Amino acid sequence: LPDRMAPLLRHRTGVQNVFYVCLSISLAYSYNIDLQHPVVFSGPDSSFFGYSVLEHYHDNTRWVIVGAPRANSSYSSSVLSPGAVYKCRIHSNPERRCTEMDLGRGNKPRETCGKTCQADRDDEWMGVSLARQDRADGKILACAHRWKNVYYASEYILPHGYCSIISPTLQGRTKPLIPCYEDYKQKYGEEHGSCQAGIAGVFMEELVVMGAPGSYYWTGTVKVYNMTSDSFYSLNQDSIDSHRYSYLGYAVTAGHFSSPNVIDIAAGAPQHSGSGKVYIFKIDGVSLVKSFQASGKMV
Ligand SMILES: *[C@@H]1O[C@H](CO)[C@@H](O)[C@H](O)[C@H]1NC(C)=O
Ligand SMILES: *[C@@H]1O[C@H](CO)[C@@H](O)[C@H](O)[C@H]1NC(C)=O
Repeated sequence: LPDRMAPLLRHRTGVQNVFYVCLSISLAYSYNIDLQHPVVFSGPDSSFFGYSVLEHYHDNTRWVIVGAPRANSSYSSSVLSPGAVYKCRIHSNPERRCTEMDLGRGNKPRETCGKTCQADRDDEWMGVSLARQDRADGKILACAHRWKNVYYASEYILPHGYCSIISPTLQGRTKPLIPCYEDYKQKYGEEHGSCQAGIAGVFMEELVVMGAPGSYYWTGTVKVYNMTSDSFYSLNQDSIDSHRYSYLGYAVTAGHFSSPNVIDIAAGAPQHSGSGKVYIFKIDGVSLVKSFQASGKMV
């Protein structure tokens, strides 16, 4: 057995007690799946503990990171069910204990987040999505797509969505991202008013990709942040076959699909024309441009 994580893969592979070997020209993997001795971690009742999950390793310690988007947070006890992210050590943890991570969000139910930004964290669903940078000292992304800006609450409550970038040590300061907030933008639905960024997210080297399915009256969009330059790339909405209620950004992934030097960012629009659509974008200057699209075949 490579480690005790293997049983967690069971439901994904559907492989029963089988020793199997995958061979390809360039690489070979093989492992057993131990179905008799699963490692089970659990969290608070009704917290949706396990809604998102990933493996993390740092400094010779292996962890399972778990999102519980309906949990109450011990670090933000005056916020109503903001959700929480837990870390569970895989080895040397006989009690299978998981501890909540301090994302440094504080305990204020309302906080200023910009010139025309007042945060409301109640029911923000922190931990709805988790992603890890694929490298030895990988950072972690944790998002709360229902985070709201209530600055214009007399007219509109703006569910922009919020993400935190967490350091590989799982401690210390986290970097906040509110990719859809712009000063003085105030309309619900229009542009990024109800963008709900972070319902899906992925890391790709120095880029953080966040799906934002509520933008432009639920046409949706993709937000890409470059950690090195501290700036965002914007998708030219004219380059896509824009339909309201397509939910572009409901799922995202990224990789070097077209060539080893190109970063390709894929995003799903599951409600596009009732059958769904997938787009692939690449970076061109400060923009994301479409390089591929495929439509669903069945309505
Ligand atoms: C969070 O706290 C509220 C208020 O105390 C409570 O009603 C709710 O059930 C708690 N949620 C969970 C998941 O424990
Ligand atoms: C991110 O920004 C850095 C610094 O401006 C730049 O060198 C790098 O090419 C950018 N990364 C991508 C993938 O565009």
